[in-house]
Amino acid sequence: MQTFEELRQASLTCQACRLAERRTNVVFGEGNPESPLVLVGEGPGENEDKTGRPFVGRAGQLLDKALTDNGLDRTKVYICNTVKCRAADWSTGKPVNRAPMEDEVQACRQWLVPQLGFIKPKVILCIGAPSAKNLIKKNFQITKERGMYFPCEFAKTAIATLHPAYILRQMNVQKNDGGYSLLVADIARAWAAAQKLVEKELNGSRPETAEAVGTLFDL
Ligand code: URA
Ligand code: SF4
Repeated sequence: MQTFEELRQASLTCQACRLAERRTNVVFGEGNPESPLVLVGEGPGENEDKTGRPFVGRAGQLLDKALTDNGLDRTKVYICNTVKCRAADWSTGKPVNRAPMEDEVQACRQWLVPQLGFIKPKVILCIGAPSAKNLIKKNFQITKERGMYFPCEFAKTAIATLHPAYILRQMNVQKNDGGYSLLVADIARAWAAAQKLVEKELNGSRPETAEAVGTLFDL
């Protein structure tokens, strides 16, 4: 039987999609694999590709701040991405980050699905639309449906939130926090749900559906 570390090691040489051609490092994920909460982002950017670590650039710094504002950090949650290699457009010679394509997302499920299978989180927080479309439903609408509990194949429930890179762009065009308070609130909701589900399990009761999970939190 494969261990979590063996799965991680195997991913580091993956050639299953075109993103392997230009990557520096595969970014498998990091944090606490025993955590009841997993955050799943979109994919590595330039800094993540360089370091092999998720969310270490500007967006990552904002995510860290939102975790800190909730009394959390990377030792308390697990953080990974929808695709493990950087997606960029190289047509001008200089890489410009782009969203992962559907076939790349599908190919990388060969790592994400067993990764989530090992961790067995109570709650998944999808960071940004590509993650929510992959793990919750194809037609997920991030601005309308963020912060709500959904059924998920890989956890008791999943919630989606705004991507910190989107928030950083909004901060520049608007005179408000760009949605940062929503990110903080969604992390709080996800963590509270995870804690409640751990407690429930300790007490011997296990809500099995997202609806039953929802009734735990006065939805
Ligand atoms: N954006 C993501 O979605 N993931 C990262 O790891 C970094 C930036
Ligand atoms: Fe493999 Fe995923 Fe990287 Fe594609 S993005 S090469 S599937 S690890």
